[in-house]
Amino acid sequence: MQNIAIFGATGSIGGSTLDVLSHYADCYRVFALTANSRVEELADLCAKHHPKIALVADASQKDALAQALAQRSLTDIEVWAGEADLVKLAALPEVDVAVLAIVGAAGLAPTFSAAAAGKRLLLANKESVVCGGALLMQSVREHQAELLPVDSEHNAIFQCLASASDRDRTKARLILTASGGPFRKRMDLSDVTPEDAVAHPTWNMGRKISVDSATLMNKGLEVIEASWLFGFPPDRIDVVIHPQSLIHSMVQYEDGCILAQLGAPDMRTPIAYSLGWPERLDGFAKRVDFAALGSVTFEAPDIARFPQLSYAYEALRAGGAASIVLNAANEIAVDAFLNRRIKFLDIAKTCRTMMDSLILPAPTCLEEVLEADRLARVKTREVLAR
Ligand SMILES: NC(=O)c1ccc[n+]([C@@H]2O[C@H](COP(=O)([O-])OP(=O)(O)OC[C@H]3O[C@@H](n4cnc5c(N)ncnc54)[C@H](OP(=O)(O)O)[C@@H]3O)[C@@H](O)[C@H]2O)c1
Repeated sequence: MQNIAIFGATGSIGGSTLDVLSHYADCYRVFALTANSRVEELADLCAKHHPKIALVADASQKDALAQALAQRSLTDIEVWAGEADLVKLAALPEVDVAVLAIVGAAGLAPTFSAAAAGKRLLLANKESVVCGGALLMQSVREHQAELLPVDSEHNAIFQCLASASDRDRTKARLILTASGGPFRKRMDLSDVTPEDAVAHPTWNMGRKISVDSATLMNKGLEVIEASWLFGFPPDRIDVVIHPQSLIHSMVQYEDGCILAQLGAPDMRTPIAYSLGWPERLDGFAKRVDFAALGSVTFEAPDIARFPQLSYAYEALRAGGAASIVLNAANEIAVDAFLNRRIKFLDIAKTCRTMMDSLILPAPTCLEEVLEADRLARVKTREVLAR
């Protein structure tokens, strides 16, 4: 029986993880659930899954969480709160597996904590790889943590690289697939609304990642993520638009062979794979019916309409803290867009402005990563206020 702590349990990945776990109650115990501020949703999950610990990151909501649990007669559940408790929970000896499903750079500290404690990390929070980069990977190695990527593209690459020798890896290319998002065929993006942007054609996800998919920033973050996770330089990582989201990503080897991982677009598949690895658990996703599918298609990404994908390559090549600045600028701009303070096209403009104006050295520890992130957020807010 393994104890599972889900960071970001009230989100889309959190929900999919709980769904997988509910089928394996004899192997995995839901040990801890966290949310940011949505205490009623968290309390509802507690009523269903009975964790030992419920944690709300927004410390001002601690009493509200205690009350919500009491209303459901769940007074035996420990109530934790605040960022320091998130970090403590990720390193708790009783936790075997940390599912890192917080959205944004807020996931950095618990991810680093779980890595330093040598846990198995089911890592969905791509922003912590984008910002933590070499430091996170070094910590995973040093503390013999197991990092299983939950992002479907990286989970696919993880599987496609499984049998590759070191020599094969140094010559292979990664091919990340992208659905193209809701605006693949929309030429005029000047009047896009938040509702348009979160309506993803193939995946059902949280609001921030849905907007990132619409701008192709999500694919850009994934290029950076893939570079760190698998040790590939940017010039050996390609992106291809594949609207059916059947192929989750591919590896092309030196002899021309391509290994691809396919399946229905359902996040429960990579979550179950990461949970069971190195064995496969029974899956729940719909089986692919090739005959009914008809055809699968591919096209090049349109960088003129979606420049943020190229910004990610640029940040990766620039090094320093460029990826942290890009990520922070994007998070602030997406939030402003979702709250109707800026237009859709201003998201990319804000990222461009910040990449040109804030050049910071490469961080040497987590504290410096967090400081670069903080500074980039402050500057981005100033830019948006102007
Ligand atoms: N959704 C997908 O299919 C998918 C696929 C691949 C990768 N990912 C990655 O997985 C991560 C989660 O995505 P999602 O779509 O599941 O997001 P989501 O639905 O928006 O859920 C986000 C979760 O994080 C919590 N949270 C938000 N801000 C926080 C903070 N400052 N401190 C602590 N917790 C905070 C939220 O709590 P509240 O509910 O209280 O706000 C919620 O539990 C992202 O990094 C995303 O890129 C997602």
